[in-house]
Amino acid sequence: MTVRRRSPADIARRIGELRDEIREHDYRYYVLDRPTISDSRYDRLFAELVALEGAHPEQVTGDSPTQRVAGSPSEAFATVRHAAPMLSLDATTSEDDVRQFVETIARTLGRAEAWVLEPKYDGLSVELVYEESRLMVAATRGDGERGEDITANARTIRALPLALRGKAPARLAVRGEVILRPSAFRELNAALAKEGQVPFANPRNAAAGSLRQLDPSITKARPLEIVIYDVLGVEGAKWTSASQAMAALREFGLPTSPLHQRATAIEAIRDYQADLADRRDELDLEIDGVVVKLDDLTGRAKLGATAHHPRWARAWKFAPRGAETVIEDIRFQVGRSGVVTPVAVVRPIAIGGAQIGRATLHNLAELERRDLRVGDRVRLVRAGDVIPEIVERLARSGERRGPKLAPPRECPSCGTALDGDRCPNRLACPAQLVAALRHVGSRGALDIRGLGAVAAERLVASGLVKRLADLFDLTAGDLVRGGFGEAAARQLAIGIARARKAELHRWLIALGIPRVGGRVARLLAGAFPTLDKLAAASERELAESVGPAVAHEVVRFLHDRANRRLLEVIRGER
Ligand code: IVH
Repeated sequence: MTVRRRSPADIARRIGELRDEIREHDYRYYVLDRPTISDSRYDRLFAELVALEGAHPEQVTGDSPTQRVAGSPSEAFATVRHAAPMLSLDATTSEDDVRQFVETIARTLGRAEAWVLEPKYDGLSVELVYEESRLMVAATRGDGERGEDITANARTIRALPLALRGKAPARLAVRGEVILRPSAFRELNAALAKEGQVPFANPRNAAAGSLRQLDPSITKARPLEIVIYDVLGVEGAKWTSASQAMAALREFGLPTSPLHQRATAIEAIRDYQADLADRRDELDLEIDGVVVKLDDLTGRAKLGATAHHPRWARAWKFAPRGAETVIEDIRFQVGRSGVVTPVAVVRPIAIGGAQIGRATLHNLAELERRDLRVGDRVRLVRAGDVIPEIVERLARSGERRGPKLAPPRECPSCGTALDGDRCPNRLACPAQLVAALRHVGSRGALDIRGLGAVAAERLVASGLVKRLADLFDLTAGDLVRGGFGEAAARQLAIGIARARKAELHRWLIALGIPRVGGRVARLLAGAFPTLDKLAAASERELAESVGPAVAHEVVRFLHDRANRRLLEVIRGER
């Protein structure tokens, strides 16, 4: 076989061509939503580029489309200061408020104004900084002043150009929302559930969780998208209106909202809001309202901002999605901390595409105050469009209601007398043990595949796990004897074996020490890299890294004899 030898110049030229072509197709696909080649043709171009770069690694540049395959996982995220504060939005659900907002601004600025309208996307707000057209930094919003550097992960979002097209300004910082479409969210959750992992509560959490993965290859496997809606800073270009700026961003290849519109009258704003509210369920977008922003940028500068939000924008939120149903039962659940929570089991109804069968009643005092009873007709909403919640009882005159429910005095799981609304029996209480097992298996803790709600229940009910430490002695054979199927038993046994070797910070999260969450666990493991070092530290030493309250809890936990076996597992002594 004869191989045509190409000169280095030929190869560089071909690599350049392929990159341009792939970028162009990414742009047509993701920004214009009008692909002009087939997926297989695209894949061939991409494969050719990968092969050429593989053979000529010296030609690889950071903005090559192949570099979306991000580098090695970083341990935690560095901090980034934003180009300008990333503020929040002032929100309302009332049309009158919006009208007043529009009129007040027109009066303040002394003329009729134009407005730009966009959906209010419910995802994760991010900042992107381009220098000399290259994507340099992507950061989460964080506290508004500083966020986390998530550049490696953001680079895996296919709709996000790594390099801007055309004559882009020397420096450009923009803001947008990373989102996951509800259809993609459902698929992701189905896949997670199949693997026995905890599904995400909603598309926003899924987007945030995916973007904040320590391993960018996981982010890459999630079909995240991004919508750009604001300029935080620019050097080397000047725009007088937001609509002009947005059009320019689109030219540079940045995905702005396809639902972006300009309006000059309140009627048009109202129509826009009503239309999106109507089409909300068909759009395959998680949106919770519309954003009304002053178009004129000089006007924006004059109005300025409070510490919390700009004065030139208003979010007009949709009324929460709701529906009527009937309470069929009221049950009491015991959580990981022992707190008893009343939960209403309702006749199943669909709200915003999700089937709802339960609603939280928050706490015993709330149940008492609201006096909800089995048989009551109620209106249910998804608060923040997430957790179903009962907003009101729909009383009918002359109705005969069920008996008033007495709040429990004993733990519904173990029968121990409650201390207020808490079961004091800790992990000797089966419900708390089940909750603790689920926590241990959860993604943020030891991430044990196959240890979901059903498995946790079975482990406790079968008597296989009487104390948390028992989990780590279980073999596949034990699990089968406890009623697990062969495949599930094997998967769980492997997950457990792997978990025994987890990093210290994951163990610290898993242990469920009060006040120790992900951030504190990392701090502790950073300062005391082994369990022995941690256990040898004095309360005062610990307090230097995590403060006295946490230090106290950690010392108490590590020296409690009840936890000895578990600590032996972490040390690898069992
Ligand atoms: S404009 C704050 N436009 O909503 C001024 N924000 O609840 C610039 N958001 O954190 C923001 N969709 O990140 C703007 N079309 C849109 C938006 C939007 C979603 C986010 C924003 C903010 C949150 C406020």
